[in-house]
Amino acid sequence: MRQVLVLNGPNLGRLGSREPDVYGSATFEELAQECREAGRELDLHVEVRQTDDEAELIGWVHEAIDGRLPIVLNPAAFTHYSYALRDALAMRTAPLVEVHLSNPAAREAFRHTSVVAAVADGTIAGFGLMSYRLALHAIAGMTGGAGQTGSAGQTGSAGQARGAGRAGAGAQG
Ligand code: DQA
Repeated sequence: MRQVLVLNGPNLGRLGSREPDVYGSATFEELAQECREAGRELDLHVEVRQTDDEAELIGWVHEAIDGRLPIVLNPAAFTHYSYALRDALAMRTAPLVEVHLSNPAAREAFRHTSVVAAVADGTIAGFGLMSYRLALHAIAGMTGGAGQTGSAGQTGSAGQARGAGRAGAGAQG
């Protein structure tokens, strides 16, 4: 079974109590369960991790690169300024989908820049937990797994999907 790493950056471990009006009411454990369930549906073995530490996150990216593992990545605030993370991701040879619970483009100006987006296959933002589900579908599509709906990358440009600025209770289940 294809292994996928779902990596999450700083403060995402606080989901549930962290700004629920922005990020929804689901806890990080509920997010992880949702990802594992989507993985089962898609024939993917999904491993979900979270860290507040940039070095640890980069270490996990190196691990994924060495194992040629696809990554679903919510870099959280690192999205906006971590060139070290971007440089690590640029070495990848397997699919990479950037995800966000909220839609950073509809929020403060500093969130409008992603230094990671250009090295990802695509970005899915604004759909709460569903962002992760959609990202796993994209990975399944790119790796030929179950639930394949088409071949990502056929357009020749990175894909993007964005919802409203808030994660939305509806997407939190
Ligand atoms: C986030 C958006 C980022 O701007 C923010 O720093 C986060 C979470 C999201 O999932 O919506 O920590 O990545």
